[in-house]
Amino acid sequence: MPFETPPAQSEGESNTSSRRRDWAAGALGDASRAALAEDAKLFLHQSVSTPCLSVITKAEGPWIEDAEGRRYLDFHGNNAHHIGYGHPRLKKAIADQMDALPFAPRRFACEPATALARKLADIAPGDLSKVLFTTGGSDAVEVALKLARAATGRFKTVSFWDAFHGAGFGASSVGGEQLFRGGAIGPLLAGTEHVAPFACYRCPYGYPERDGQPDLDLCKMTCANMLRYVLEKEGDVAAVIAEPARAVPYIPPPGFWAAVRQACDDVGALLIFDEIPTGLGKTGRMFACDHDGVVPDILVMGKGLGGGILPIAAVIARPELDVAGDYAFGHYTHEKNPVTTRAGLTTIEIIEDEDLVENAARVGAHALARLHDMKDRHGVIGDVRGRGFLFGAELVKDRAGKEPAPELAEDVLYRCLDGGLSFKISMGNTLTLTPPLVVTMAQMVQALDVLEGAIADAAQAAGLA
Ligand SMILES: Cc1ncc(COP(=O)(O)O)c(C=O)c1O
Repeated sequence: MPFETPPAQSEGESNTSSRRRDWAAGALGDASRAALAEDAKLFLHQSVSTPCLSVITKAEGPWIEDAEGRRYLDFHGNNAHHIGYGHPRLKKAIADQMDALPFAPRRFACEPATALARKLADIAPGDLSKVLFTTGGSDAVEVALKLARAATGRFKTVSFWDAFHGAGFGASSVGGEQLFRGGAIGPLLAGTEHVAPFACYRCPYGYPERDGQPDLDLCKMTCANMLRYVLEKEGDVAAVIAEPARAVPYIPPPGFWAAVRQACDDVGALLIFDEIPTGLGKTGRMFACDHDGVVPDILVMGKGLGGGILPIAAVIARPELDVAGDYAFGHYTHEKNPVTTRAGLTTIEIIEDEDLVENAARVGAHALARLHDMKDRHGVIGDVRGRGFLFGAELVKDRAGKEPAPELAEDVLYRCLDGGLSFKISMGNTLTLTPPLVVTMAQMVQALDVLEGAIADAAQAAGLA
C-alpha cells in the first residue's frame, strides 16, 4: 500500500524531485538515459535509491566518474570509502587472499577472521573484545539487539527519533525515520521506545542556542535527562542504542554521553553505540565515542571496514556479554569469510600506516573553520557543525527565523554536481559532507570553493542573497 502522505524526507535528497529531473535533462546523454531507464525497469523502486541519479563507471581514490566522463570528488560514498576507492594495497590483499583461501564454511576457523577480531579488540575502546562479523551494518545492529536481550533478560530499547540504524526489521524499529518505519511496513518490534535526540541548533525541547552551541546553564541538558527519565519509568530496558555523533550531522553536547552512560548503569541497561558510519576515523578519532571518553557495552561498525570494496560489518562487545553460547544469533553465511575479513584487517592497517585518522582531524578542522567563515558571508547558512570528516551546513531562508530551505539545498547540490562535487542532503536542508579520509588539503579547498560558489549562486537565484 502506498503512503497516503509521502513520508518526510530525512535520509538523502529526493530521487524523484523536479530539480533532479531538470538536472538529468541537462547533464545526461542518450546512453546514460537509456541505462537509467533500464535500471528503473529492473529494480524495485525505493526512496533515495531507484530511480537513480546517473550511471557510474569509475571509482578511484576520492573520485567517482560517471558515464558522461564527469569526475566528482565523492564527499558521500555511503561512508564506505574511508581509504578511497580501489586502494592498490587492499586490492592486492584481497586478490592474494582469494588465491590462498577464498571461503571458510561454517564450523571452521580461519586466520584472517581471527586476525581481524584481534585487531578490532586492539583498537576498540575500553575492554570491548568479543566479536561477531556480519555482511552489513543492519545485520550487525540486529546481532547487537539480540545480544542485549540475551545478556539482560529484557527486550525493550530506547533510541533516538530521526536516527538511522539500517533497513532490517529490528534496525528499522530502533531507527527513528519515517522513511524506514512508517506506514506500509508496520507493525515493528515491540518495546522500541524513542526519545528526542540532541540537536542543539533545533533543540526539540525548545531551548535556545548560540551559534549552534547549547546554553547548558539554561537547558541543564534536558535531552540527557529525558533519556534517564524514560529509562527509569520503563524500568526494564535492555539497551540504549544510538550513534555517538549523529550522522545528520549533530555533535553531542559536552557531557551528554557520560550522563547517559551513568543513567544506563543506574538502571541496568546496556549502551550500544552504532559507529557504522563514524567508526575507523571519520570524526578524527578512531571512534566517535573516543571524543566523549565513554565506552559502550557493545559497539557496532561496518561500512568503511570493507575498504570501499567488500561488505563486512562487526559487533564488538564486553567479554562479560559472552553469555548466549547455546543460541545462534550471529549465524550468517559470511560470518568468518576470509576474503572480507582480510579486507577489514588490511583496511585498518592502511588507515594506521597512512595516518588517515590524523588527516581527517587536521584537514577536517580546516574545513570546519572554512565553513564557519562561509556562514559569516552567507546568511542562508543557519548552522555549521561537525567533527573530523563528518560535517555539514544547514540552509535556512533567514538566519533569525531558521525556516529550513530544502529547495535551496537541492539547488546547491545540483550546482555542486555540475562543479564536480558530490555529497548528500540530510533532513531536507542539511548539506552533509563525509569525504574519504584520504582527501588532501588541496582537494578539500577545491571542494569547499565549489560549495561556496554554489551556495552564493543558489542564494542569489532564490532571492536570498
Ligand atoms: C548509523 C547507521 N547505522 C546502520 C546503517 C546500516 O548499514 P548497512 O547499510 O550496511 O546495513 C547505516 C547505513 O547508512 C548507518 O548510517
